[in-house]
Amino acid sequence: MLGVSRMRIDRCGETDFLSRPAEFGWILLSGRRQTVQTGFRIVLAEEERAAAVWETEEETGRTQAAYTGPDLKPLCRYIWKLEAYDNHGERACGEQYFTTGRLDIPWKSAWIEPVQLSAAKENVPAVPDHCVADPDLHDLSGFRPAQYLRKSFNIAAPFQKAYLFATAHGIYLPYINGARAGKGELLPGTAPYHEELPFQSFDITGLLNMGENTVGMVLADGWWAGRIGLMGRSCEYGDRLACLFEIIVFNEDGSRQTVTDENCRSSEGPIRSADLFVGECYDARMEADAWNTRAFQDCGWKPVPVIGRAADNLHSQKGSSVQILEKRKPVRIWKTPNGETVLDAGETVAGWIELSVTAAAGTKIILDHSETLDRNGNFMYSVRGRNKDQRDIYITREGAQTWQPHFTYHGFRYVRIRGWPGMPSADSFTVCVIGTPVEKTGTFLCDDWRLNRLHENIWRSQRGNLVSVPTDCPQREKAGWTADILLYAPTLLTLSDGAWFLKRWLDYCRLEQRENGLIPFVIPFYPQYRDFGRRMGGEASAGWSDVIVLLPWSIYEMTGDEGVLQENYPAMKRWMHYIETKMSETAAYAGGDPVLENAWMKGFHFGDWLVPGIMAKKNAVPMDSAKATKDYAVPAYTAWTARTLSEIAHVLGRKEDEAHYRLLYEKIRTAYRCKFFDEGGQVKSDFQGACVLSLAFGLAPKEARQETAGRLCRLIAKNHGCLDTGFLSVPYLLDALADNGKEAEAYKLLFQDRCPGWLYMVEQGATTVWESWDCVQPDGSKGSYSYNHFALGCVGAWLYRSLAGIRPLEPGFGKIAVMPGIDSGLKHVRAEQMLPQGKLCVEWELKPGEPFVMRLEIPVGTVARICLPARLFGTEAPDIEGMDSRVENGMAVFHTGSGKYLIKGQKS
Ligand code: BGC
Repeated sequence: MLGVSRMRIDRCGETDFLSRPAEFGWILLSGRRQTVQTGFRIVLAEEERAAAVWETEEETGRTQAAYTGPDLKPLCRYIWKLEAYDNHGERACGEQYFTTGRLDIPWKSAWIEPVQLSAAKENVPAVPDHCVADPDLHDLSGFRPAQYLRKSFNIAAPFQKAYLFATAHGIYLPYINGARAGKGELLPGTAPYHEELPFQSFDITGLLNMGENTVGMVLADGWWAGRIGLMGRSCEYGDRLACLFEIIVFNEDGSRQTVTDENCRSSEGPIRSADLFVGECYDARMEADAWNTRAFQDCGWKPVPVIGRAADNLHSQKGSSVQILEKRKPVRIWKTPNGETVLDAGETVAGWIELSVTAAAGTKIILDHSETLDRNGNFMYSVRGRNKDQRDIYITREGAQTWQPHFTYHGFRYVRIRGWPGMPSADSFTVCVIGTPVEKTGTFLCDDWRLNRLHENIWRSQRGNLVSVPTDCPQREKAGWTADILLYAPTLLTLSDGAWFLKRWLDYCRLEQRENGLIPFVIPFYPQYRDFGRRMGGEASAGWSDVIVLLPWSIYEMTGDEGVLQENYPAMKRWMHYIETKMSETAAYAGGDPVLENAWMKGFHFGDWLVPGIMAKKNAVPMDSAKATKDYAVPAYTAWTARTLSEIAHVLGRKEDEAHYRLLYEKIRTAYRCKFFDEGGQVKSDFQGACVLSLAFGLAPKEARQETAGRLCRLIAKNHGCLDTGFLSVPYLLDALADNGKEAEAYKLLFQDRCPGWLYMVEQGATTVWESWDCVQPDGSKGSYSYNHFALGCVGAWLYRSLAGIRPLEPGFGKIAVMPGIDSGLKHVRAEQMLPQGKLCVEWELKPGEPFVMRLEIPVGTVARICLPARLFGTEAPDIEGMDSRVENGMAVFHTGSGKYLIKGQKS
């Protein structure tokens, strides 16, 4: 039997609203082995029995199809029906509904701006303040209350459907008749607002009644006016809060009613201040009961002026908003040695706390959030810089009450509770974990708990850093640092179904690209980062800005989606053109090699960021690592970006470009070899990172590869068996060893548990991945780095690739190799990975005295080549039904298509 599952539309919005031409996708399931799709047919219609709007039929194994039909009608429910055929003559059908967005319906509403104090402009210095935040010293007098807006309107005729569209300058929470519309938090999320301000679409049919209805909005500073980013500067986009909303009601008689945001009234309310980083202060005594329902009398509220027409920067949001992903109970509340009451969320998260309390009116409860305790087990602030308090204040009304903030979020595990009436219990609190809902599709389990824990920690750091855009961390910066996601993307795409999220962010990268092609190192590029860049000497950096080329390539490799290459290609070329122009500015560096001595190579760069050996030196600052390593990191990444672009040009059939970028790669490679390799093939650098990148990016001469890998091993040995690589080289470290005959050393490095090392973090009790290997030092002292940074979690992909052994033999995993890491010392590994064709499951066991066992589940449409040492089977590879097997160069090689298989070795 052939079946269809996971029918989906790429980049669908809130409640399946479609904002742009889409790509349909599905996977097939079959009980029969060796199944491949031979063709499909898609029919798109307005209703089940209506005539087709679009049909397409293809004879192909591809389980994705781009929509190429006519423009769809706005706010219309469509059904897409799929029929797929396989090579056994079977047929499967599936269908799914979706609703289009408002598309080109012009806005009748205009921006409205409640009467408010302007936000205070905090012009903090462009160079970050490195002291650790201390909220007790913070003067909050410049902070302002959130705005509450409401409007009642009448629905006179019976209606069929109703939608709300909304966005804000600031962040907003929408209500209809007292109930929340949708599940989104921190709306509209962050984006390069001036270029593209996302609006959200909500199906509110079930929330409206005939007669009088009320819409309510709460508005706070958010990314627009709040104190954000590294420097904690405010008013990055503006100092006034405003919002825009519109309701469209479809009546049963076919007519349409539009409710605009005109004639709203506003007031301040219980939210006395709300800042995305600093925290929220809520005085429940100021609550106005049922303010967002029609029963409320708003005579004391002020009219909200209309300030201007909706501009063309409005775009329907692509994909989901941030949501509460999980609600969990704290694992413990106790008194720390210094007598403070602290709650332990059990793991490091991004989010906030919901509290329930019974108290007399006016009790002030203060919640301070931190990712770590100090070495004595007391609460400590670990976040550096200004305006990073992470403090929520709740002032009670009389009686029993429950509250959570909605206009701030924190990175934390521990919460210090002050002002609580009596000793609180865990029942009084709920940890609300937030993030963008990206489905977890990867699982990894083995017989070493530490690796399983590492895998969980990686997933947690991912979850805490997909907050509207991929961020570096959820506390200090909450910023879209480009290298972090570039390094992490292969892991993200292995663990989850997150390609749509990365593509949405790539749209923002293109919007932030400068006229001259420059791609900034943080996206969205908040003005403070521009100033920071100017102070440092540049707004772009090798390895960071290369994201525009290397990230689409990662997505292509993992999904086979050529569209992402096509869509970003012009931006990639403009970025490369920027580099080439800079490389032609050699005058200032005359005398040296023109390929390496020029304005690009010698300019500002973050280099191989945070090399642990450099950071361990007394009084070291992160830029020391940048300066010491940019010599190798910049040409290596520039060469690799040129080479990747050449491959992209090849895929897209751009022959001239392909040759041009290939030549550029070779030019840089030649210069790099001259500088970093002596005639005997020895690497002339003491950095592990230089060896790693030389190997990973094909820069080491062929005949020097062995020696380079050997040198890397010697450098590791000299470093007490530990890695010493920065952000840019660490993702390639284990492959550089394993692919060059040093597999045993790669395993040793992964499994060793001293600092710096992945399992060191695990052994220290980490529940997420840290920014710095020594956030907790061997002597127990705690650092003020981020404890929730996914960058070093880039090793996640390696667990699947080398321990489970799942490798693509072509982009999109249509053909795969399975080469499990049976020499890793592990006895059992089980991994599941969602390939574009469906779920792949690999499980192997190698227990002393027992035969090797491997179970495989290969999805429909995938062809696998399984390679295992022949020694597991005696002299011949076993004969397995449905598999073609033979022994080649000491390896037993099995070829097969989809289905479930069991491979058994001989007793060892
Ligand atoms: C961020 C990093 C980022 C870096 C740039 C840091 O402050 O947290 O992860 O890539 O700056 O070097």
